[in-house]
Amino acid sequence: MSIETIFETMDYGTAPEDSSEALNWITGQGGAVGSFIAGGWSKKRSDMLVNNPATGEKLADMTIATPGEVKAAVRAARKAQPDWAALGGPARARVLYAIARLMQKNARLLAVMETLDNGKPIRESRDIDIPLAIRHFYHHAGHAQLMPSALKDRIPLGVCGQIIPWNFPLLMLAWKIAPALAMGNTVVLKPAEFTPMTAMVFADICVKAGVPAGVVNIVTGDGTTGEALVAADVDKIAFTGSTDVGRIIQNATATSTKSLTLELGGKSPYIVFDDADIDSAIEGLVDAIWFNQGQVCCAGSRLLVHEAIANDFHTRLKARMDKLRIGNPLDKSIDVGAIVDPIQLAQIKKMVSENTAGETYHAQTPVPEGCFYPPTLITGLYAADTLMQEEIFGPVLVSTTFRTPSEAIEIANNTRYGLAATLWTENINLALDIAPKLAAGVVWVNATNLFDAAAGFGGVRESGFGREGGWEGLQAYTKPSQTRTILPDIVPFPGSGASQDAVDRTAKMYVGGKQVRPDGGYSQEIFDPTGQFLGHAPVANRKDVRNAVQAQSGCKWGNTTGHLRAQILYYIAENLSVRASEFANRIDQLMGGDSGAQEVEDAIDILFSYAAWADKLEGRAKSVPIRGVALAMREPIGRIAALCPDETPLLGMVAPMAAALSAGNTITLCVSQTFPLVATDFYHILETSDVPAGAVNILTGPQKDLAPHLGAHMDIESVWCLSSAKITFMVKEKASSNVKRCWQGALLDDHQSWLDAATEIKTIWIPYGE
Ligand code: NAI
Repeated sequence: MSIETIFETMDYGTAPEDSSEALNWITGQGGAVGSFIAGGWSKKRSDMLVNNPATGEKLADMTIATPGEVKAAVRAARKAQPDWAALGGPARARVLYAIARLMQKNARLLAVMETLDNGKPIRESRDIDIPLAIRHFYHHAGHAQLMPSALKDRIPLGVCGQIIPWNFPLLMLAWKIAPALAMGNTVVLKPAEFTPMTAMVFADICVKAGVPAGVVNIVTGDGTTGEALVAADVDKIAFTGSTDVGRIIQNATATSTKSLTLELGGKSPYIVFDDADIDSAIEGLVDAIWFNQGQVCCAGSRLLVHEAIANDFHTRLKARMDKLRIGNPLDKSIDVGAIVDPIQLAQIKKMVSENTAGETYHAQTPVPEGCFYPPTLITGLYAADTLMQEEIFGPVLVSTTFRTPSEAIEIANNTRYGLAATLWTENINLALDIAPKLAAGVVWVNATNLFDAAAGFGGVRESGFGREGGWEGLQAYTKPSQTRTILPDIVPFPGSGASQDAVDRTAKMYVGGKQVRPDGGYSQEIFDPTGQFLGHAPVANRKDVRNAVQAQSGCKWGNTTGHLRAQILYYIAENLSVRASEFANRIDQLMGGDSGAQEVEDAIDILFSYAAWADKLEGRAKSVPIRGVALAMREPIGRIAALCPDETPLLGMVAPMAAALSAGNTITLCVSQTFPLVATDFYHILETSDVPAGAVNILTGPQKDLAPHLGAHMDIESVWCLSSAKITFMVKEKASSNVKRCWQGALLDDHQSWLDAATEIKTIWIPYGE
């Protein structure tokens, strides 16, 4: 098309980006990609093809790394890790800066390679993916520099296995590798089988940046390679991808001590109130659902629009959709590129064609042959419709309406996911009221898809756990320098002689603010070390767990102020002080010895400490490069269950209770099974301390019977496994039911770790200015 014609018609001209540098780079690699281990390339094979989805042409042959090759990569990482950690933060920072600078130097090559491999428009890879990936390395170079002073009590985890998806290949690599390296870990990363190319360029950059051999290892391959990495001798698995595979990985690591972070799928709501700036909201939607062809875990794929403006909004939206240009992703004037692979295209087509609900509108815009799918809008759906619930992972927006803010929240939260949410309103009061009520790890106000290395990203519910970016993201790649040792269960004392007396001394449990008998009606005899009978303790079962969690759900503790929570914790502490000697005697009687007085004193102290924390648990305002703020709000996890240790029966239940309550959680305590009578005495303290019903529930009985139910319960968000390793594994084996957090505790005086486990960071982005 000549300039004259463009001038006459005002049509777009094509503006293709040159791909020859990228193609030459591939040729320079022998036309094949494979694993990068211990600073060098392994022998490459043609086990699979890497194709350009826009043209269907082959880009390269790819090696599927075998379990043996994965092991070799892990060995290399293991060997390199001590020296890399010992190098120290400032020296590691220099290496990370060098990586960032070389990425910047090769930015165009990386952008073109990403577009060739993934099919995303060059405008996106050039202006979003690559700059954000570079920013991640710069930002984390800073974290490495500051680690010795700002994170004195944290140490690296060791070797991290990292598995990433195909939708943001280099950006996901950066999100994984930058914090891991900054904190002194070494990595074995597996890119997705559809998109290994930029990881290969990155390996090359690592060599040039002077990354020591073995610090960064990359294994190419498919799910089998990923499985081998999960099974390998690594200290951590970090995974981003589908919820289904996340669940498989959670199961596969359940009986290991590998730490785990999962960043999974989403069905994020995009809420438009009737006072919103409609044109901006529509432009935002273009970014929310047509960015990267909708293949974005946090895509605003569920439009919730106020009923009063819905017709107008849909009409204007369709007009905008018709203007989107689909085509050659290397063309700089293209809005929507290719779907990553014919398999993904078939999946999108299948989901849309199987839907019979609502009205489907495909954008009236030319769609090229091949791996392309038109921007699509499905209106008139109900919250329960399949497409309102299931992630399509394509350029398909589904829509429903609401009438009131509370209905908007209800529909928005009516999903098993909780990754992101967007809301549009000109009323800042409304926005700031709604944002905390949305079940999401990230909320964008009057904007969408804002990301930055300084701001945490990650989900709640079945969108996974762990944060990437910011200070909070560093937790996933470090551990406290001192960790508590998990002691074996203590075997109960056997009885000698009569176990009954005339008075029924069967303690009760404490559920929903009331003393209750166990559902099954069974109890266990408790003896002192000399075999003397002390009383009966109830044996809880699955239904007691259910009742306790139901009581937690009905309790509004999370809505209380830190000030009020502090008052109640102080009150518990004071009431325990008044009865200190009674509890000390009880502990000595149950356990033998004379440690009771000290344990009660420690329990009182910990209650006062968490009372003090309750109104000092603060978030941050992040320094992000936009005109606006990104608030990192600490939110309670929700419903926690704790399996308490035997060695200190009072302190072992008071510490998790106090930490959980302090941060606004409710908790069900499955107390020491060997010494339960101290816990059944303790509810008298709770009853006199203004603790609302359901905030704390106490169950007694064998933990091995309760642990699987806690692990499987769909309404428990986190289980604190503070007793034996065996019990912990029993919880973790069931925890993938709702992608549950499982936490193994920290030293008692490490309050920060307990409070971190009791909270999750929600990032709320609020751009400002006219
Ligand atoms: P996936 O979850 O299967 O793959 C992600 C990564 O995990 C890839 O590197 C893959 O090789 C690896 N993997 C697969 N099976 C594994 C296993 N058993 N053990 C260890 N690693 C394994 O995602 P896939 O197949 O690429 O896409 C399927 C669907 O997943 C998409 O249609 C989309 O709905 C969703 N998805 C979600 C993403 C997100 O960020 N939330 C990203 C990519 C896909």
